Order: sequence, then C-alpha cells, then structure tokens
Amino acid sequence: MKASPAPMTNVTTPDLRVPDAVDAVLKTLRRNISAFGAGYPDDTTTGLRYRPRTPRGGLPEGANSGWTTGFWPGMLWLAWELSGDDVFLAAAEEHAVDFERRAFADEDLDHHDLGFLFTLSLVSAWRLTGDEAAREAALAAADRLMRRFLEPAGIIQAWGDLNDPAQRGRTIIDSLMNTPLLTWAAEQTGERRYADAVRRHVEQLRRHIVRDDDSTFHTFYWDAETGEPLRGGTEQGAADGSCWARGQAWGIYGFALNHRAVGDPRLLEASRRCADYFLAHLPADDVAYWDLVFGDGSGAQRDSSAAAIAVCGLEELADQLDDAAAAARYREAADAILASLVANYTPAEGESDALLLHGVYDLPKNNGVDEGNLWGDYFYLEALARRAKPDWARYW
Ligand code: GLY
Repeated sequence: MKASPAPMTNVTTPDLRVPDAVDAVLKTLRRNISAFGAGYPDDTTTGLRYRPRTPRGGLPEGANSGWTTGFWPGMLWLAWELSGDDVFLAAAEEHAVDFERRAFADEDLDHHDLGFLFTLSLVSAWRLTGDEAAREAALAAADRLMRRFLEPAGIIQAWGDLNDPAQRGRTIIDSLMNTPLLTWAAEQTGERRYADAVRRHVEQLRRHIVRDDDSTFHTFYWDAETGEPLRGGTEQGAADGSCWARGQAWGIYGFALNHRAVGDPRLLEASRRCADYFLAHLPADDVAYWDLVFGDGSGAQRDSSAAAIAVCGLEELADQLDDAAAAARYREAADAILASLVANYTPAEGESDALLLHGVYDLPKNNGVDEGNLWGDYFYLEALARRAKPDWARYW
C-alpha cells in the first residue's frame, strides 16, 4: 500500500521558518536526485559540492559503500513524507532495491553501522509502504549485526574484523543509533536474542562510556576474552579526555531511543545527562564546536551535524519525560539550536548542494572539515520533519 502521506501542516514554532526551510531543502534534494540518479553522493562535500562516492573496497565510484549511504534514501523518504511528491518516492524505492541487494551481497557489511544504513533505507521503506522485500533484507542486516555481539563482554564491536587485535572489543558511542535495527528485528520476529543484545550493549555503554561529569568518551575498549572494561579514548575528538561534540549528540539521541526500547529509567537519565552537558557547553549561537572542549574565541570549527543530531535527540528526550517543565526546557533548547541552523548554517541559493554548511567529519584526519555531510543533512531534515509534521513517526 502506498497511500500518499498527509502533507505537512502549518503548525510551526515562531521564528523557525520551517515551511521556507523545508521548501529550500526539497529544491536541493530534487537537484541532487537528478545529479546522482541511482548512485550515491560522497560522505561529505568537497568545496561545498557533493561528488560521486569515492571508489573503495573494490567498488566503483558512486557505489553503495561505507557507513553513510543510508542517509541519502533516509532524506528521500522524509522528503516524500513532507511533500507527497512521488519523485521522492520513486528515488527512495530505487535505492531501497539497491540496499536489498547490498544486504545479501556481502558488500561492505563488516562494521556496526548496519543500523544507520538499513534503518534509514529499508526499515523506513517497510514502515511507510509495507515493502516485504525491504523487511526481509533489513532482518538479514540485523542478523549480520548480531554477529558482532561479543560474549562475555556483552558489547557489539564497532569496527574491523572480529579478530583484529586493534579493534577487538572496541565500541563507539555512535553504536547507540545502530541498536534500533535490532530492536525493530525483535519486534518483527518476537526473538528475544535481539532485544537481549540491545539491553546488554546499551547498559555497558551507560556504565562506561558516560563519564562522572556527564561528558562521554567517543570510544571504549573491553577485554573480549574476559569481558573486563579496559579504557576510554577517542578517534575523532580533540583528545582522549575531551568530549567530541557529535559523540555527545549521539548519546542524547541514542540513549533516549534505547530507553524507549529497553525501558530502564537509567537510560533516559543518561540521555538527560548527555543533554545537560551538551547544552552547558554551547557557544553564543547555539551550534557546537566540533569538540566541546572549545568555546567562543577558540577559533575552532563548528560541527553543524552535531547540532542537528542534538535537536532530534532533545525532541526524543522531551517526548519521553514525565516532567513537563524539564521537557519544555529541552524543547526550547532544541528550537534555539534549530533556529540558528536555519538562519546561519544553510546555504544561499546555489552556494552548495548540501542542506547544512559548516560540518566536520574527522578533524584530526583533516577529513570533511567545514563542509556539508550526509548525516548532518539527514538529521537537519528529520529535525524539520519533527516540526512540520507533528504526527511524524520515527524510522528508528
Ligand atoms: N558514526 C561516525 C561519525 O559520527 O563520524
């Protein structure tokens, strides 16, 4: 069944200019559909333009590889929901078929980002159109992700071969956004093993990746043989002991989403702790520097993608809080960040084919610095969708 979604309402928060922002996004996405066709844009823009995806792992230019391609159909599904325009539906469905192929083709699946990839490309397709092929392939991806669950540590290894000594037993905070694929698989199949993996992994992160001062490590290592927690560190942050802004934003959104699944109130508290630390370290314009160790006057780069993720996370957190006053404060903070993104971080007509400017992928490696990126664009559009369609239902 493919009933056109109800168009967006006129419900807006004052000063956010949501309808204008959505119109600008839809215009850019229409151009990007023409530019990329069945292929995929790269992780980030280069000189503010998306190029076809860099060839990697023996796959050609523009191929469906890496961890970020799912954000592209994720945006197309959101655009269809916001506009009802079948141009977006057709493009999203074309990419869903490609993700179904990737799920069974063993193409670049040896990492934990299967959640990002297949939730936004295929679980979304299943939720919106009842696509059975999408459901089957997303379940296959969930089984693939389960292979990375390590006993006795009770964690999902993030990157690399499971026997690679440098990566064995390593998690990263971003994984909190990959576990919703397993939660969905548990709901679909009734099999407890998926939900048990989510509960155990998320509890390990709550205990060890969130520090006593409510900041977070980007990455944390366990001894894969004994299950002993070893140490925290960073990969993309300024220092092992600093707080990488995007990681903190993944924490806000990820702990809240997993609280919905697991039901342990300590997970909602973890989301709240991440939120309070994030909000206490924002600069005057409400858009975080790429690491929260930096403040105004530091000359550091912003990471607009961290801001967009935080907006969605704060909304998710507020949706689940019983404390109405606290929920209102988090929504107010989300509105302030989104208003700044709309006013100060979106391109002028023709300036870029990204939706958001001034993102950072990996500053220590000088990768995607002060550029647009696919995940920043996706979460910016999800943030707008949450305002434009109050009945919008999460893909996660
Ligand atoms: N999940 C990888 C990143 O946030 O850069």
